[in-house]
Amino acid sequence: MLDVLGEFRRTHYCGELSLEDVGKRVCIAGWVDSTRDHGGVVFTDVRDRTGKVQVVFAPSISQELAGKAKRLRHEYVVAVSGTVRKRPCGTENPKLKTGEIEIYADELRILNTSLPLPFSIDDSKPGEEARLKYRFLDLRRRQMMENLLFRHKLCQIVRNVLNSEGFVEVETPFLTKSTPEGARDFLVPSRMHPGKFYALPQSPQLFKQILMVAGFDRYYQIARCFRDEDLRADRQPEFTQIDFEMSFVREQDVMEVAERILRRLYKELLGVEIGEIPVMTYAQAMDRFGTDKPDIRFALELRDITDIASTCNFKVFRKAVEQGGIVKALNLPGGARLSRREIDQLTGFVANYGAKGLAWIKLTDSGLQSPIVKFFSEGEIEKILSRLSARTGDILFFVADEKDVVNTALANLRVHLARQTGILNTEKVKAVWIVDFPLFEWNEEEGRWETLHHPFTSPKEEDIEKLTTDPGSVRARAYDMVLNGVEIGGGSIRIHRHDIQEKVFDVIRISPQEAQEKFGFLLLALRYGAPPHGGMAFGLDRLCAIMRGETSIREVIAFPKTQKGQCLLTGAPDTVECAQLEELGISVEQTEN
Ligand code: AMO
Ligand code: AMP
Repeated sequence: MLDVLGEFRRTHYCGELSLEDVGKRVCIAGWVDSTRDHGGVVFTDVRDRTGKVQVVFAPSISQELAGKAKRLRHEYVVAVSGTVRKRPCGTENPKLKTGEIEIYADELRILNTSLPLPFSIDDSKPGEEARLKYRFLDLRRRQMMENLLFRHKLCQIVRNVLNSEGFVEVETPFLTKSTPEGARDFLVPSRMHPGKFYALPQSPQLFKQILMVAGFDRYYQIARCFRDEDLRADRQPEFTQIDFEMSFVREQDVMEVAERILRRLYKELLGVEIGEIPVMTYAQAMDRFGTDKPDIRFALELRDITDIASTCNFKVFRKAVEQGGIVKALNLPGGARLSRREIDQLTGFVANYGAKGLAWIKLTDSGLQSPIVKFFSEGEIEKILSRLSARTGDILFFVADEKDVVNTALANLRVHLARQTGILNTEKVKAVWIVDFPLFEWNEEEGRWETLHHPFTSPKEEDIEKLTTDPGSVRARAYDMVLNGVEIGGGSIRIHRHDIQEKVFDVIRISPQEAQEKFGFLLLALRYGAPPHGGMAFGLDRLCAIMRGETSIREVIAFPKTQKGQCLLTGAPDTVECAQLEELGISVEQTEN
């Protein structure tokens, strides 16, 4: 039934044929994208990685061939030889790159068949479960094929930029000790050391620092990282970083390399020039946008009115301030036309982030409309309107609560409104650096300081003295890059002196013994001539998804996991043979599920 490839040799890829090839005899190979029988003449679109081309099996050329072509079905694998012809006038297909030509076949080899498909390859939106289970079919879809080809080019450009700047690509181990990036570790049991475990790296952080101690000066790696955390559209348990590190540098040097990478990627892949990348402090970002990942493609900035609220007669606001909270507001220009129902929906929206209400003031032609103005003096209202640059036609929204709740609720409302009202132009690209992060944040539950980034981030030199006296005010030499409101990368200048590293461990209550157990190798390395160094890592999957206009990083990863961390293609994670467990000295407790 099936033919063999035999002597057949491909001469062209389907998608690359054009009018220039008219008259040539060509050999193509690929999959049957579609096939139709027009009264004996069979028209078949054959597809490969590059695109598709129409093949004509005409009885006038060979009865036998046209008869054989009738057997073709979706996704059969074929090799075809024939002559390229210009399509007859009026039968061109402008939607197809090769739509001006077709191949008149004189030979057909059917190399393989296919079961009926669970979804059509040209379907734009098959169900995600089916897509992940039949990933081999899903990846044949044009969009996915192009996403991965794009990712490939992206990696090549990154390598070119870094190679040309003297960076050396070094691989670091997967089977290693825990690196604290704030997530849970994936563990791998050791057979040779029963009861002991490797941890999969959350990032190559410690190894790249050690490469600096070793004198490599500039390192990079397109590195896989593993983090056992709750998954979201932009998080996978294993993901890829563009990871680099440099010696004898300051923040500016690392940030410039990152900018050169980003600019080259946008220029070469999308023909887009990235404008100047502003630098914003963490404090400014939190104040103006309520988040350290601000989308600065649009304004709608938040304004703090805690001072005004503290003296007003609106109980909700005053109480919030008295309890140590804040009141912030944003102005939606033109928003006065929102209906009560729409405002109620927005109140529901901010409730998702813990806000207990959403107060508002409309500035209409006939004056102010609001359930709360009656609680404010004229002077207070004037101050509020002026602080928010409010004009007739606008609506102001207010949230009063604990600082975190106010910021989170309004930060999300801001983006929601920008999308809903079309203020956000999704074609725009806007990056921003966030700097001067606090080195530590207070963990209420555990009653101790934690590092905001990882514990190897250097404090600002002028803040070192405050490590023991006022940890909360110590700023980090860290920088995050935010693109269109998504954190696409981050890094820092590291601690290169063991005494300061030990001090930081002390603040976050890692005892000398614990530090020794967990990071003894780093502390040791820091004692053997560690140079000042710093670096950064881009989230490659996130960057790639944004550049391709995809909303989930699963769309740019060949074999991603579901939100529940499963691989529907292979069925991982799965149970293993008892013998394997025995060999590892592991017994599994049976739980309900
Ligand atoms: P960080 O933890 O900030 O830094 O990670 C760097 C970037 O990686 C991306 N990222 C992720 N992408 C997909 N899925 C995830 N689960 C995930 N977690 C993080 C983000 C993030 O900005 N060692 C440091 C870097 C350094 O200091 O040099 C680090 O890993 O885009
Ligand atoms: P109430 O007096 O509770 O009916 O609230 C009057 C207005 O204040 C309503 O529009 C509520 O949504 C809003 N509101 C209530 N609590 C808060 C809060 N914590 N922050 C902002 N607005 C609030």
